[in-house]
Amino acid sequence: MRKVGVLLLMVGLSLSALWAEKPSKAVMMKGKKVYRSYCMTCHGPDGEGQPGIYPPLAKSDWLKKHDKIYVLRAIIFGLSGPITVNGKRYNGVMNPLPKTYTDKDIAAVATYMYNSWGNPGGVITVEDVKKAKKEGPIKKKGKKKRKKRKK
Ligand code: HEC
Repeated sequence: MRKVGVLLLMVGLSLSALWAEKPSKAVMMKGKKVYRSYCMTCHGPDGEGQPGIYPPLAKSDWLKKHDKIYVLRAIIFGLSGPITVNGKRYNGVMNPLPKTYTDKDIAAVATYMYNSWGNPGGVITVEDVKKAKKEGPIKKKGKKKRKKRKK
């Protein structure tokens, strides 16, 4: 009996995981709108980026290597300093997202990104955004040194 219970639980869990992977059309449309109004200028209409300047979001291995909260922190608070995306080095500055975008907008645009251009899918929720905001900006280890070298 207990084994059956565990089995049912596991089936239930994997089903709910599958559900969680699929965003609604409304969320995807909202995300696309935010993407086109803001992110597209740098990352391109299809997330292709611009060689040497803006890293691609399409099939980005950086997205795979970092958890969603870290990715959200980069989008919300900005990202700078050297990073490698799909084998190419970038060393630019992404500014913090303008405050006019709501948590819902941020969740939608992140969900849109994860479900477009060959990326792995998944749904980013408003709770995820709140968690990322609580954790705050990404602090890179090499940052202080870079400032010193600039002098
Ligand atoms: C003004 C240009 C600009 C805009 C607008 C912009 N980004 Fe970026 N983004 C960058 C740059 C530059 C980097 C690389 C930063 C670095 O070198 O550390 C980056 C890096 C990233 C990364 C991590 C690297 C990768 O390619 O996977 C993600 C994810 C990302 N941006 C998503 C977004 C999303 C989503 C938006 C819109 C909400 C957005 N960006 C808007 C310039 C921009």
